[in-house]
Amino acid sequence: MNAPLQGHTASNPIAAAAEALLSVDHVSLEYRTPQRVVRATHQVSFEIDPADRFVLLGPSGCGKSTLLKAVAGFIQPCEGEIRLQGQTVHAPGPDRIVVFQEFDQLPPWKTVKQNVMFPLLASKTLKRKEAEERALHYLDKVGLAAFADAYPHTLSGGMKARVAIARALAMQPKILLMDEPFAALDALTRRKMQEELLLLWEEVRFTLLFVTHSIEEALVVGNRILLLSPHPGRVRAEVHSHQYDLHSLGGVAFQESARRIHRLLFDEGQSPETERELDFSDIRIAY
Ligand SMILES: Nc1ncnc2c1ncn2[C@@H]1O[C@H](COP(=O)(O)OP(=O)(O)O)[C@@H](O)[C@H]1O
Ligand SMILES: [Mg+2]
Repeated sequence: MNAPLQGHTASNPIAAAAEALLSVDHVSLEYRTPQRVVRATHQVSFEIDPADRFVLLGPSGCGKSTLLKAVAGFIQPCEGEIRLQGQTVHAPGPDRIVVFQEFDQLPPWKTVKQNVMFPLLASKTLKRKEAEERALHYLDKVGLAAFADAYPHTLSGGMKARVAIARALAMQPKILLMDEPFAALDALTRRKMQEELLLLWEEVRFTLLFVTHSIEEALVVGNRILLLSPHPGRVRAEVHSHQYDLHSLGGVAFQESARRIHRLLFDEGQSPETERELDFSDIRIAY
């Protein structure tokens, strides 16, 4: 993939004038336990346009997963509102599908194809024959057509990740939600999955909301990155990163962007001496 990725429709003035696909509007999220109230995010706002690869980036505990769960409809904001195409999100729905980090979410007694068909049948989106066709179509897209009849335990971690992605995309959601989907994979497989995700996006042009605590992964996967401060998560900045892909890793401009993001996340307001002391090893917070 040598050409820069062009996914951000907001650079197009006509698209920018249209309503965002997803609006997260001053959203605060809390967990209430008998002992105390934990505020996970504080008045977070962002908008996602169609075909964006939008990344939520921040340190562990800053509320990324909680935000994703709220967009999915599993948690209600205590303040603010989440809207999908202008409609307030109140509950989970087949228009928002989540891919989690744990691929053992695939039921082991179902074949790969049955796993991909399952949500289509359970949600009554399609009849069996159409569900099978759609499952095979997306398994082909993720390079697993030959493994349609295999069982999950016979697959590698990367292959299970691809099944989970195929299963989510087969539902043709308005927005695909991914919570650190490659975090459990070894570094090389993780790189490969990032590359495959970008290739798949070039082909299908789905809209992605992707959570990570890795600056590198955010720069590679995203076209826009929302930086969240530590607990409770607040918006620090939004940066554009559509110019990067896996081929940019280690390049001067990529490293400079990674350093800038690191400063925005952790060193805001500190002296220039501190900034000069940063080297590339400092900005790898995930690998
Ligand atoms: N079920 C829960 N009950 C109480 N507190 C929680 C629960 N889940 C998460 N939290 C707290 O909410 C904050 C945000 O968590 P989370 O969204 O998982 O962060 P991240 O995904 O960025 O690591 C953390 O302080 C975490 O301890
Ligand atoms: Mg999380």
